Amino acid sequence: MDFRNQVTTANAAARAEADALLVVIAGHRLPTTLPRVLAQPLEAAVKQGDLALKPGRSWFAGRLAGVKAPRTLVAVAADGSARAVKAALAQGLSTIKGLGIKHLAVWLAGVDGVGDAHAEALTAAAGDAAYLYRHTKPSAGPAPRLSKVTLLCAAESAAAVAQGLRRGAAIVAGVTLARELANRPGNHCTPTHLAEQAQALARSAGLKVEVFGRKEIEKLGMGSFLAVAQGSEEPPRFIVLRHQGAGTHDAPVVLVGKGITFDTGGISIKPAGEMDEMKFDMGGAASVLGALCALAQLKAKINVIGLIPTCENMPSGRAVKPGDVVTSLSGQTIEILNTDAEGRLILCDALTYAERFKPQAVIDIATLTGACVIALGHHRSGLFTPDDTLATQLSTAGDRALDPCWRMPVDAEYDEALKSNFADMANVGPRAGGAITAAMFLKRFTAKLPWAHLDVAGTAWRSGAQKGATGRPVGLLTHFVLGRVADR
Ligand code: BES
Ligand code: MN
Ligand code: ZN
Repeated sequence: MDFRNQVTTANAAARAEADALLVVIAGHRLPTTLPRVLAQPLEAAVKQGDLALKPGRSWFAGRLAGVKAPRTLVAVAADGSARAVKAALAQGLSTIKGLGIKHLAVWLAGVDGVGDAHAEALTAAAGDAAYLYRHTKPSAGPAPRLSKVTLLCAAESAAAVAQGLRRGAAIVAGVTLARELANRPGNHCTPTHLAEQAQALARSAGLKVEVFGRKEIEKLGMGSFLAVAQGSEEPPRFIVLRHQGAGTHDAPVVLVGKGITFDTGGISIKPAGEMDEMKFDMGGAASVLGALCALAQLKAKINVIGLIPTCENMPSGRAVKPGDVVTSLSGQTIEILNTDAEGRLILCDALTYAERFKPQAVIDIATLTGACVIALGHHRSGLFTPDDTLATQLSTAGDRALDPCWRMPVDAEYDEALKSNFADMANVGPRAGGAITAAMFLKRFTAKLPWAHLDVAGTAWRSGAQKGATGRPVGLLTHFVLGRVADR
């Protein structure tokens, strides 16, 4: 998608060339700065009750005299914040769905201090409106034609808007990649497919990539990861991607993504209801690919490494059994009491592998626990870290990207849940505090690392009629890494 900004005055906004003009009104009254050609019909629409000045409302005006674009639509935002503007844009865009509009011009009327956050919100809303899953659904029809979006803005905000559009466009590309991969069903998106996609991304984005197969993973000594992979006919892959944006000796940020391409639970098998959604259990891996895609496009001046352990979690005659004890890459042994707590088993070996890069920060991203969904629902991802600086940076990044997270505790007391009589630790504790116990398990492998864990079980995809991957937390991760560039 092509995002541009165009410097204009309120009067000139009506003369913008586009297939449609979307006017966002912030607040409860029409701004006094509207040009006459818009002010008159909008006032009439308000008076007539066609346009209520309430957040979430929109009005399709069709052709208006004096407005160059053949259609005008109006959407109302609760206030001038980027978050409210994004919601209004999404609402406005939904009213023109299916009209085949290619070029949209957007005017944020009555929004003070239009800046990079608003521009980025626009890219996200437009990216959402233009995404359609088609890979295994020929009947979905052609992709939406929206391909160019122009944000009309005043001269003083042009520089900030241009920067926001550039960053937002890169994030949209990353989010779209993550959604597309996560939406693909488990029989299409296998570990092998994910590795091929990583290689394709590396080629197109200029990243370095290495892919290890079962033999090499064995040689590395990733006994915990292999225990999960052993039940499946699909061979596992360990993917290492590198974005080299700084000096060779600069400490990288390492992103580790859970890549379970399908989670049946293994021998501790899941109930049938909604099990199909476990194709999304590689959402963490998809977000690592998406973030690297965005950061490469932005030529971020920082080194970033993506690590993706990927396999299926299947029951079979060869599958790992409850009570089995395995030796992780760290040398610590694990009693696998529940084979459905497999995400932590593949992540722990990847986290140990991350040590060799002497990273400035390691963030793992995983659809790790149903308990996190119970705790936080679907709006905020769970954030777990003993490091206050990382916690602040990740929270801020989430807020800026409109991809928010919420910090959860990792107190030492929670660790006792993982005691085992037969190994250094068990892979599960009691039900209570399940998202925290999972984080405590990972914490045992990160003593030597500045580490944080994002549990995206509630945010990586939507269920129900809107079932599909969200591409979260690509925005959060991209902002976090970019923030690290600015830090130095
Ligand atoms: N991938 C699931 C977590 C999950 C479940 C995410 C439902 C979203 C919706 C994970 O591998 C899992 O099965 N976790 C178990 C852990 C339990 C056995 C300690 C869970 O959450 O039930
Ligand atoms: Mn599981
Ligand atoms: Zn899982």
